[in-house]
Amino acid sequence: MNILVTGGAGYIGSHTCVQLLDAGYDIAVLDNLDNSCEESLNRVKQITGKDFKFYEVDLLDYEATDKVFAENKFDAVIHFAGLKAVGESCRIPLRYYHNNITGTLNLLDIMNKHNVKKIVFSSSATVYGDPHTVPIKEDFPLSCTNPYGQTKLDIEYILKDLSKSDPEWGVILLRYFNPVGAHESGMIGEDPNGIPNNLIPYISQVAIGKLECLSVFGDDYDTKDGTGVRDYIHVVDLADGHIKALEKIKDNTGVFIYNLGTGVGYSVLDMVKAFSKACGKDVKYKIVDRRPGDIASCYADPAKAKAELGFEATHNLDDMCRDTWNWQSKNPNGYKG
Ligand code: NAD
Ligand code: UFG
Repeated sequence: MNILVTGGAGYIGSHTCVQLLDAGYDIAVLDNLDNSCEESLNRVKQITGKDFKFYEVDLLDYEATDKVFAENKFDAVIHFAGLKAVGESCRIPLRYYHNNITGTLNLLDIMNKHNVKKIVFSSSATVYGDPHTVPIKEDFPLSCTNPYGQTKLDIEYILKDLSKSDPEWGVILLRYFNPVGAHESGMIGEDPNGIPNNLIPYISQVAIGKLECLSVFGDDYDTKDGTGVRDYIHVVDLADGHIKALEKIKDNTGVFIYNLGTGVGYSVLDMVKAFSKACGKDVKYKIVDRRPGDIASCYADPAKAKAELGFEATHNLDDMCRDTWNWQSKNPNGYKG
């Protein structure tokens, strides 16, 4: 199969490209490098020893995206491209709605035109809002609290409507929990711009000495130690979920929805402890006020993905921290060298 990977230069995209190439898929990557750089793709080529086409194209540029489809015969698209910072989406919502939704509408229209009707979409556990109970199943009520999450929910509905209108479409919505870790080579990993918003990138920059101290956002949640609980999943496991999803839509049409998580929740303090063990030094932290919009606990019921895709995460918390630290210590300034 020949797969177009939108957003393939990014964190999850680059890891998925490695897995796709290793599994024998042909790929092409489309990315505008808004939140990534081409070096990640050079590293993907080094890891796999395989070459592929890269198009530096913005999905908002209809003509350029159309040209990519005219030049290739794709069987399916994995659609990672999008902006993802929750806080930023509250400050500049129109940019988020335009980039994520208009970009996806352009992509779907062009796919239709070229008769490419299989798509795997990067959705998020954020579409469950503040769940009444955990673990979270795919049929729980959906809601969201910020523009970023709203774009994910809107795109889910767009894809469901498209499939209703044309039964030839095969759509998989993958709702990721919290991706962390890096490829075991330490050659690719998460490379946030500026000060990280997310926990593990922040912890690893404290460990490497770029940041002074982790602020733990609240210790008065109704959780085992009062700090927020999340379902952290190794990015290599997450990438594997995309291979399983492609296998599923190869011969199926309709819409399929899966949580990609481990089913285990860890608190912020669990993560600090595990990371300190992995890097061999204490990660300094202080307790501060809650971060507005955060929820107490969020972890997946991964049973549906296991039953229908044969997907199961195999990396544990120590693997996640070890591989993050391996990437961070080999690349203290990310891809910038
Ligand atoms: P990322 O920012 O590293 O990768 C996204 C890529 O998309 C970047 O390379 C960026 O340059 C590209 N892009 C953005 N807008 C584009 C456009 N208009 N045209 C072409 N390329 C564009 O993010 P990631 O962590 O790899 O996330 C991938 C996807 O998974 C995103 O859709 C994100 O919302 C979703 N997701 C991420 C997380 C997470 O915590 N990382 C959790 C749930 C869902
Ligand atoms: N946290 C801190 N200090 C920090 C950063 C985070 O204490 O500096 C805490 C948060 O309060 C939360 C936990 O660490 O309890 C995880 O926070 P992240 O920001 O790493 O992740 P979130 O669960 O808030 O959100 C992430 C992505 C969302 C996505 C969601 C589900 O940022 O886009 O996972 O996939 F929707």
